[in-house]
Order: sequence, then C-alpha cells, then structure tokens
Amino acid sequence: MAKKMSVEEILAAARGGPAKKPADAPPPAAEAAPPADAPAAAEAAPAASESAAPIKPVKTAGMSVADILAAAKAGKSAPRPAAAAPVAAKPAAAAAPAAEKKAPPKTDAATAAAVPKDTASILAAARKGAKPGPVSKAEAEKKGIAPPAKKKLEAPPMPAKPEFARPAATNDDPSRRTFMAAIGGALFGSSLAVGFTSLAVTQVMWVLGLARYMFPNILIEPPTKFKVGSPSNFGPGQVETKFIPEFGVWIVRYEYEGRPMIYALKSVCTHLGCTPNWLEAEQKFKCPCHGSGFYKDGINFEGPAPRPLERYAISLADDGQLEVDKSRTFNQEQGQWKDAASFVPV
Ligand code: FES
Repeated sequence: MAKKMSVEEILAAARGGPAKKPADAPPPAAEAAPPADAPAAAEAAPAASESAAPIKPVKTAGMSVADILAAAKAGKSAPRPAAAAPVAAKPAAAAAPAAEKKAPPKTDAATAAAVPKDTASILAAARKGAKPGPVSKAEAEKKGIAPPAKKKLEAPPMPAKPEFARPAATNDDPSRRTFMAAIGGALFGSSLAVGFTSLAVTQVMWVLGLARYMFPNILIEPPTKFKVGSPSNFGPGQVETKFIPEFGVWIVRYEYEGRPMIYALKSVCTHLGCTPNWLEAEQKFKCPCHGSGFYKDGINFEGPAPRPLERYAISLADDGQLEVDKSRTFNQEQGQWKDAASFVPV
C-alpha cells in the first residue's frame, strides 16, 4: 500500500531530494489538525525538517497539486486564480448578511461540496477518514438527504372491445370437441399411436378376409331347364324370339328333312359367338358382326360361319308343356339333329 505523504514530503520529492521525515517533527499534530490549520502546519513543517536547502513557505490554499509543484520548482508561490481575488476583496461585513439571507440551510453533503478543495484540506479530510464522492442510499437516509421515493406508474385501464371484435357465439359443443380432440390425439398423436392404429386396421382387414374365405364362391345362374309353353302355342313356320333376352334361345316350329317339328336353336353365331338377329321379312338369321346368314332350320348359307347353329334339348313335360334343357346341345355336322331329344315332332 502506498504510504500517506505529507505536503512537505511531496514538496521534497518534487525538488528531487529524499523524502525525509525528521524524527523531531510533530506530524501527528499536523495530520490531526482541522483543515483550517493544515496550511499553517504544512508551511511551518519544512523549515524545521529540512536542513539541506531552505524552503520558502508556500501558500497552497486554493491551489491544485500541479500549481503547488510548479510553485515549489520556481521557489515562489503561484499566482492565485483571478476569480478568487474579487471574492477575497469583498468586504466581509457586506457579504455576510447576503449569505445569511439567501443561502438555504446546507446539508452535510452540500457543506462538503462547498469546502474549498485545496490540497491540505483534501489530505486532512483523507486522514480523518471522511468519505469523498457520492454517498450510498443508506448514508443518504442516515443524513436525511435521501431523494423522494419514485411514484409507481400505473397503466390506464384497457378500453372495452367493440361489438365486431368480440368472438361470435358458436353452437359447437365443447365437450364433443374435446372428445374428438382426445380421439384424434390417441390415434395420431405420436408415432407410437400411428403404429398401433395401423396394426389394428391390418388385423381388422385380416379378420374380414378370413370371414370371406369361410363362405364358398357361389355363381348364381338361371336354371338350365325351363318351360316355354304348349306346342299348340306355336303356329307352323313360327320363330318365337321372346326367350332370347332371358334364355338366349329361339323356339321354332318348322321342318327338317321333310319332318315337321319344334326345336330350340341356340342364339350364338358359330363364327365368333355374336348373337344373330331373326329377320322375319327375309326368313333368315343374320349375324350383325360379320354377316353370316342362317336359314330357318339353322343351316348356315352365307358369311364366315363354318357350321350350322346348335340345338338345345327339348321335350314334352308331364304337364304337356315344352321344356328346354340347355345343359345338352346337338350339332348338325355330327348328325346329332336326328336325336329324338333334339326336337319334338308335331
Ligand atoms: Fe357371326 Fe362372325 S360372329 S358372323
């Protein structure tokens, strides 16, 4: 720590000499003296302590350290600031009443700020332990110079919302929304939930597939045997077409090889399987696909059809009606039209 130096030691150090402190000097008295007496003690001390060079007394009141050092080097007192002279020249009797009238009662801080800042007073104050500079809050409260407490700013109340800015009333049931949100969150809330949902859907589809496998594949077809009415319902040379949409068969009363009979012709072209049309005016079956033509007895005579139409089995049922059986067919090129099951003689 830097050792505290008296003014004399500072002056001696400035002159280049050793900062000696005479043993017989009375520093405690000078250090403990009040600021008003300090300059006199400081001026008297060098004469007693320094023996090598006589030191002229220097008046340091109102001087800065630089001024003091400059004055010490020049061996004379530095000139006082010009502003200080008029104040000193003022008659004390005239200045004192004005000061008493105008000056407000000074606090400790104001008094401390008004004290002249000469070096001796600064040093004396430092030796007294007085704290220079700003004071803390606690010190200010202790001395009664605390600033007034700040008022808390209070925000003004918010204005009421206009009608158009208010949320519109809805008919949504909040409990339903909450339920749907819970279901959605449970199903798709996380990757784990998505995985379990996919697994559950896969299992349901597997169960449905197994249930479908347990039932046989059934193809519902029209019956192969059906009745078309009494033989007397068909006149000689008649081709009945009303069974084409449902059964795909013509019931014809005509003759083959000179024998009158009733037979059932299959309505499928022997070329590529189209359904020919009966042309009453031309008394023939005509295929619309490639133009094949068939006589009334089913023999092909034009077009690409390679062979005659086929017959279904036909017979008289117990009730006297004609019954057609589509499960059996008869081909003319194979001589099957001579089979008694392929026609009903009339
Ligand atoms: Fe009948 Fe070709 S399918 S003529």
